[in-house]
Amino acid sequence: MEKLQQAATLFLFLSLISFLANLSTAAAATSRAVFVFGDSTVDVGNNNFLPSDAPKANFPPYGVDYPRRIPTGRFGNGFLGVDFIAMAAGLRRSPPPFLSLSNAVEGRRGVNFASAGCGVFDTTGTDVVTMTQQIKDFSTFAGNLTVAKGARSAAVFLSKSLFYVSVGSNDLFAFSTVLIPGNSTQKDEIVAAVLRQFAEQLRSLYQLGARKFAVPGTGQLGCIPGVRRRVPGGACSPDLNDLSLRYKTATRALLEQLAMELEGFRYSFTDFFEIGSQIQSDPQKYGFTELAVACCGSGRLNAEGPCAPNATYCDDRRQHFFWDAIHPTQAVYWLGSQLSLYGPRQFAYPVNIHSLLKS
Ligand SMILES: *[C@@H]1O[C@H](CO)[C@@H](O)[C@H](O)[C@H]1NC(C)=O
Ligand SMILES: *[C@@H]1O[C@H](CO)[C@@H](O)[C@H](O)[C@H]1NC(C)=O
Ligand SMILES: *[C@@H]1O[C@H](CO)[C@@H](O)[C@H](O)[C@H]1NC(C)=O
Repeated sequence: MEKLQQAATLFLFLSLISFLANLSTAAAATSRAVFVFGDSTVDVGNNNFLPSDAPKANFPPYGVDYPRRIPTGRFGNGFLGVDFIAMAAGLRRSPPPFLSLSNAVEGRRGVNFASAGCGVFDTTGTDVVTMTQQIKDFSTFAGNLTVAKGARSAAVFLSKSLFYVSVGSNDLFAFSTVLIPGNSTQKDEIVAAVLRQFAEQLRSLYQLGARKFAVPGTGQLGCIPGVRRRVPGGACSPDLNDLSLRYKTATRALLEQLAMELEGFRYSFTDFFEIGSQIQSDPQKYGFTELAVACCGSGRLNAEGPCAPNATYCDDRRQHFFWDAIHPTQAVYWLGSQLSLYGPRQFAYPVNIHSLLKS
């Protein structure tokens, strides 16, 4: 069993290496635009342009591992998964924040509409760009594109582009305060309510021309330091993890259903719950030694006080799962992005993003 597992891991890593070696040639073939929607897991700086009440990460030590240590507004120590995915798709740089654009030409290889703190519901998160508004912004962009390129050419362009949509965690966090321990009926009602709204948003993007969707499922939300610090012994919250598990299973089912319902709708679902479970069960295998304590912050699990300019942060960031009380490190984003791009069906379903881009 042990041997088999080692062989499987070795195979996975060898596959990754050979894929990475092929990347420069593959990139040209899969070169596309990438459009990004969602929350802090993919916000590359839109919130920098919002009023001061919006969640912000444009100060040190955020970005300490980003080129030239720039705090870009990304909620992490360096790049996010979507940055690695954009590069693998053949883009020279991650799609720029929509709110930074002065004209539509700057967005010709894609645009990032995401806003930290948002959820699928407009009421999740205050002073953020809601998903409703993000889709409106994209609609404006698509309208301008149609004027510039003509309807037919704009439609072809959008149909080949990647739509990366990462949202839902903040809605589940909002509901977590009312969770009745062990009540699975209630959890299924929450999941259904969130996904009904999310389904409408995916349909809206489809109506506006999107065809290739990459949807990362929510991870084990019960294991973030901000939650664990309140659980006796610092354990993961079983109820929040159960909610996350139900949510990700239902998200995958929703995507399957949309693919049957909408002609030309293709998708790649990344199972971050499964990726998280694998890392939890054997952290060393993936190079992690600290899964519970945030790298940056203060107090219990470094998750009581915020990651702020006066907070301390760790040196061994490569070995930490979490950067702050909520968000993973660049190391986790890198691993997750490689598994979503090139991984097997266990992690990337029914195809990985690399295959989705080629299709
Ligand atoms: C797109 O078109 C709208 C009018 O529909 C205009 O107000 C806006 O400035 C344009 N945006 C860009 C980025 O070109
Ligand atoms: C569980 O949740 C459902 C739906 O919210 C509710 O109707 C039911 O009373 C709850 N059961 C318990 C034992 O709390
Ligand atoms: C950082 O500063 C804030 C307010 O200025 C203060 O409340 C907080 O305790 C400080 N944190 C640390 C870790 O010193």
